[in-house]
Amino acid sequence: MFTVVARQPCEPAGFRVLSRTPVILTVVVLLASVAVVLTITLIQAWHSQVLSPGLKYGVVLDAGSSRTTAYVYQWPAEKENNTGVVSQSFRCSMKGSGISSYDKNPQDVPRVFEDCMEKVREQVPGPRHASTHLYLGATAGMRLLRLQNETAANEILESIRDYFEAQPFDFRGAQIITGEEEGVYGWITANYLQGNFLERTLWHAWAHPRGAGTVGALDLGGASTQISFVAGDADAEAAARNGSGRVRVNLFGYSYPLYTHSFPCYGRHEAERRLLAALLQDSPAGSELINPCYPRNYSTGFTLGQIFGSLCTEKQAPASYNPGLTVAFRGTGDPSQCREKVGALFDFHSCQGQEDCSFDGVYQPKVQGAFVAFAGFYYTASALNLSGSFSLDAFNSSSWGFCSHAWTELPSLLPKFEEEYARSYCFSAHYIYHLLVNGYKFTRDTWPQIQFEKEVGNSSVGWALGYMLSLTNQIPAEAPLIRLPVSPPVFVGVLAFFTTTTLLCLAFLVYLCSRFRVRKSSEPAFEQSLDAE
Ligand SMILES: *[C@@H]1O[C@H](CO)[C@@H](O)[C@H](O)[C@H]1NC(C)=O
Ligand SMILES: *[C@@H]1O[C@H](CO)[C@@H](O)[C@H](O)[C@H]1NC(C)=O
Ligand SMILES: *[C@@H]1O[C@H](CO)[C@@H](O)[C@H](O)[C@H]1NC(C)=O
Repeated sequence: MFTVVARQPCEPAGFRVLSRTPVILTVVVLLASVAVVLTITLIQAWHSQVLSPGLKYGVVLDAGSSRTTAYVYQWPAEKENNTGVVSQSFRCSMKGSGISSYDKNPQDVPRVFEDCMEKVREQVPGPRHASTHLYLGATAGMRLLRLQNETAANEILESIRDYFEAQPFDFRGAQIITGEEEGVYGWITANYLQGNFLERTLWHAWAHPRGAGTVGALDLGGASTQISFVAGDADAEAAARNGSGRVRVNLFGYSYPLYTHSFPCYGRHEAERRLLAALLQDSPAGSELINPCYPRNYSTGFTLGQIFGSLCTEKQAPASYNPGLTVAFRGTGDPSQCREKVGALFDFHSCQGQEDCSFDGVYQPKVQGAFVAFAGFYYTASALNLSGSFSLDAFNSSSWGFCSHAWTELPSLLPKFEEEYARSYCFSAHYIYHLLVNGYKFTRDTWPQIQFEKEVGNSSVGWALGYMLSLTNQIPAEAPLIRLPVSPPVFVGVLAFFTTTTLLCLAFLVYLCSRFRVRKSSEPAFEQSLDAE
């Protein structure tokens, strides 16, 4: 029995039952305090790893008239003012042409998606698949097809829905977005990427930048083109009179009065198709047609179906024609002829010289401030060896120079030579000239305020990111994580409290032990004397 007593040296004999409670309590409090101090210290040290909120993902498919592109976006699971801080982490283009060209075989659309979608599945971590929203937005190509053949458009969307419903992502729908939406989302993207909505503060929080302005957005697609910019309230009345173009965009707790307009049939492909139709109208059938916008020595053929089959050229078609009949076009690379023919694609007369009118009688306030020109604007400028900002004269003389080259010289002039694009740059350059100068009324003075850009950082400028940004408002924030006191005063206070408790417990234990030792040495323990007998 002596050994038992020896194992409990702190137990004061004679007070056994009474004194055990405070000792156990003190030990428990001591251990708890040590545990709390250790946990806080460890979590504070590995704060980012232990409490990292992680990333959320979103996928947007931009189904344009000439191709479909998938964008993967990511943002921290925590959100600022209910809108995520979104950046592009991956993009890939689907094989083949735009979805609107599958009007005869809608069931084939999913097959061209597969390669790119496989990469998208790899880019988003497996456990996040089910919570990752996926949206498909179709633009002008599908808007035109829907007007022309609604059944075909619906069948294509139906076939796409079936495909995405079988994907591991949270599919949120395949929709045809309006031209105005396309314009506004492009404007949101351009300004978001330039940091006009949010900026990182010194404390790594996000804040609205002080005194930040906005930039206008110029988008040139295959089938339509959009212009969007913030226009003062004085213009609001004029817009109301003209009944178009004004929207109010609320984002990050701010409200922006925006002018936006989308011109269907004024995208690069449809505009060029309209030019071919016009050239055909002007010439006797059967002969080889001259296209002053095609490079010298370039010849190609189109069927009448290809030229007149679009809603944009329907009105130019002869009363009856054989859609299978082929017509040949020969390029002459004549810049001044090309500029004249391209100008005829716009109706500049219906504005009757009014200041607040672009073309085709469309109301537009005077352009103001800086602009970002992307998509077709960027690709065309880039083919002319121009990017960023440059003068109107530089653009004009580069266009002139480019158009003067013969077809056989182009492969050595262009970094990437593809017939379908190479033959059209001369046309596009003149087209952009008319659109921006005679249409939107950019002048020699305001032209240099336009930045021709494809991406900012690693994110593409286009409507898809703006779409994603707006839709993140509908993605609920993840359940808030348990946050330990991270602000220094609170953290130090908690740490000091538990450290003090630990020290007090230790002191109390030492005190109890010392009392027992004193007793033990002066009078033999009760148990011990009993055992000895
Ligand atoms: C969030 O909204 C509040 C009030 O609406 C505003 O003061 C704050 O600057 C906003 N934060 C950001 C990042 O925009
Ligand atoms: C464009 O450049 C060409 C060739 O340099 C010149 O002849 C023409 O006048 C210019 N046009 C305009 C509008 O500046
Ligand atoms: C663009 O620049 C490259 C390299 O300087 C040159 O080889 C090419 O000819 C230029 N292209 C045009 C269209 O001027």
